[in-house]
Amino acid sequence: MTDRELVDLAFDMLTRSYVPYSNFPVGAAIYCADGTVFTGCNVENAAYGSTICAERTALVKAVSEGHLNDLERIAVVGNSSDYCWPCGACRQMLFEFNPNMTVLVARGDGEYVSLKLYELLPHGFGPKSLE
Ligand code: THU
Repeated sequence: MTDRELVDLAFDMLTRSYVPYSNFPVGAAIYCADGTVFTGCNVENAAYGSTICAERTALVKAVSEGHLNDLERIAVVGNSSDYCWPCGACRQMLFEFNPNMTVLVARGDGEYVSLKLYELLPHGFGPKSLE
């Protein structure tokens, strides 16, 4: 699957977002080494802090299906004019499983940039930090 195709799958998820409070839909799609893709969207809550971001929705779907060690790429997309940069909590959650993961970050016009997770979260705290 090309990066463009993964970004487009993330865009498809914008219609699934549950965003009555922010009206800011976000979509995500994670590509695993064996070709499996897990998608996600943000799901908000009347208790605002209970909201889950699109990236973490996709991540917990992947991990709960046994995909811990083969997360290669994630696409994160929004409708905004700026790139939909992953929040700090999502960077941290993703770092746990693969700091070398490619992160494709898109803006509403479909343009995207490609970075490594360790570039978005330099000197991140991960499992090795506990040794
Ligand atoms: N949001 C995400 O889904 N991912 C991020 O990395 C940034 C923020 C969501 C959370 C909330 O539903 C909305 O965007 C506005 O903050």
